[in-house]
Amino acid sequence: MAGKRVIITGVPGVGKTTVIEESMKRLAEENVPYRAINFGSCMFETAKSEGFAEDRDQMRNLDRDVQKDLQKLAARRIGAMEGNIIIDTHASVKTPAGYLPGLPAWVLTEIHPDTVVLVETDEDQILMRRMGDESRRRDAEGCRSIAEHQAFNRAFAASYAMMTGCTVHIVRNENFLLDHAIDALVAVLR
Ligand code: AP5
Repeated sequence: MAGKRVIITGVPGVGKTTVIEESMKRLAEENVPYRAINFGSCMFETAKSEGFAEDRDQMRNLDRDVQKDLQKLAARRIGAMEGNIIIDTHASVKTPAGYLPGLPAWVLTEIHPDTVVLVETDEDQILMRRMGDESRRRDAEGCRSIAEHQAFNRAFAASYAMMTGCTVHIVRNENFLLDHAIDALVAVLR
């Protein structure tokens, strides 16, 4: 398999998609080829066509086995892609049944990541970003719950590193400091 596979994770609303999009622009200027894939979009294509979900925010409330099947299909599609790939996804997904691993063994064996990146910032900033985004149907959560999710994500990322030998990076995406986050991510991707 040729190319580098970098998995970018972070709790909803931390700004991972924003950091990825801006980093892709920087990499294009430097002629470093990357393709960015949104894992949730790959899952949603199947979920929608099979009638399981009408919007992406419904997916985390689906039956756990359905979510796992959607995960497997998405991982297989992404695993077959060539070249340098960024995968925008989640270390864990908060579901009514508990934290669902975003990258269980059957996903990791398809994708073979080189690196897992955790995009993080203070939980009060995440809460404010979620409240400001009217385009999504976010779960109602307080700062303590968001902090717990970020802590769990570090534990999940460590287990993914143990399973695959991939490295783990933490990128901070703080208010008014998006450029710092882009610098940090581009350094990982170069
Ligand atoms: P996904 O597509 O990842 O959606 P999400 O979790 O809701 O993430 P978003 O893309 O909405 O948020 P973001 O953190 O990227 O923030 P954004 O850049 O928009 O996943 C959708 C669903 O797919 C999941 O819920 C799950 O069901 C499923 N799924 C995905 N992967 C899965 C997996 N592996 N296994 C199982 N299920 C999976 O930014 C948010 C806001 O912050 C914006 O307004 C932005 O302008 C602002 N912002 C960003 N950076 C800054 C900054 N530095 N300062 C100030 N504001 C900022």
